[in-house]
Amino acid sequence: MSRVKDIFRLLATQVKGEDYKMQRLFEFTDFLEKEGIAPTFHKIETAGTEPEVIINGKKVLMFSSNNYLGLALHPKVIAKAKEALEKHGLGPGGSRFLCGNIDILDELDKETAELVGTEDAVTLPTGYMANVAVFKAIMDPIIGIFPYRKGEGVIFSDEFNHGSIVDGCRLSYAEKVIFRHNDLSDLEKKLKRSSLRRHKMIVTEGVFSPWGEFAPLPEILELAKKYNAVFMVDDAHGVGAVGKTGGGAVEHFGLRGQVDIVMGSFDKALGGMGGFLASGKKLAEHLRVAARPNILSSAVSGVLAGGLIEAIKICRSEEGIKLRSQLSANADYLRKNFNTLGFKIVGNGEVPVTPVFIGEESKSIRLADRLLEYGIYSPSFRWPAVPKGESRIRITPMATHKKEHLDALLRAFGKVKEEFKL
Ligand SMILES: Cc1ncc(COP(=O)(O)O)c(C=O)c1O
Repeated sequence: MSRVKDIFRLLATQVKGEDYKMQRLFEFTDFLEKEGIAPTFHKIETAGTEPEVIINGKKVLMFSSNNYLGLALHPKVIAKAKEALEKHGLGPGGSRFLCGNIDILDELDKETAELVGTEDAVTLPTGYMANVAVFKAIMDPIIGIFPYRKGEGVIFSDEFNHGSIVDGCRLSYAEKVIFRHNDLSDLEKKLKRSSLRRHKMIVTEGVFSPWGEFAPLPEILELAKKYNAVFMVDDAHGVGAVGKTGGGAVEHFGLRGQVDIVMGSFDKALGGMGGFLASGKKLAEHLRVAARPNILSSAVSGVLAGGLIEAIKICRSEEGIKLRSQLSANADYLRKNFNTLGFKIVGNGEVPVTPVFIGEESKSIRLADRLLEYGIYSPSFRWPAVPKGESRIRITPMATHKKEHLDALLRAFGKVKEEFKL
């Protein structure tokens, strides 16, 4: 909206007596409505992490939960969470800097570090928080008192990195340079241009879930070493779901202990909630004080920590290995059959997420609504999370899905294929 138009509107709304301030705000939701892309927040009346859930009083199959291994309601996880709930109560009562540094969190930090193969880890209430914290902590560690001089810090970020990385970069004082998705030569070209900059950082996701693929971590690591950049991997969708012992994309590529910072989320394969920044000991000590949410916001609650410690133990055990192999078998079965049905599956088939390409936003929204009528829940995954016109139905299989669930999903897709002439 141009400035002149704004002034005219302000005058008009003053005459009409409307609340201009609010009207300006509501342009966002009006825009979403007009474009037909406003999100629907479906109310799930049972645990949303199970293969079968109730929505609007009707049983439907859940295909968009990130509870990849089915640990959210695992009896041993629930038992440990209950135990911790009895001991620690509902919340920690403050940040770790104040009263929230309950002993169980040290154990969670330690288990997390072991899971992803680092010396130490800092755990936080969400993965979003971890990403919002980390860039400022690395690029402007003195918390704004002595920010690096403008031009010293530069973050190289994959164009498809998650919104929480985008937000975190904005909060740092660093310049952000976007490189083309998984494009090593573009990254190197940009690193070369900035080779004299003192403070560099490269960030990529380990598993790009909407694209169903890994980032080329070994090659990016080489570039990080060559250009002396801090290397961070956001492995929210990889941790627990891939790698022999659930160590994520870093383990998958045999890079345990070689990446400077592994960021992850507990709300996906580990079935809980929370996030972490795992690294070497010295860097973790730095992050404990420089990551602002660790000082300024509540710690992870004891009840969550209790459940998560058990979830991590299961994830690394023989049982975890079996669950990952079931997850991978379910994903393979879906990909094979989607291909037979003639759907375009995004990605190279190496990661469990199975994004089915649809295209135009409003079409994928209508299609997801229709799937729901057929008893399948998987909302349209669309712009701005992916580029415009590239919406998809991101199917997230879980180890707990049975063959009958997968077949019901495929049958429903067979029906919408005809109806929507896909
Ligand atoms: C790649 C990536 N990073 C970070 C996050 C944020 O994690 P959390 O849900 O724990 O806040 C997500 C969540 O979807 C994600 O997909």
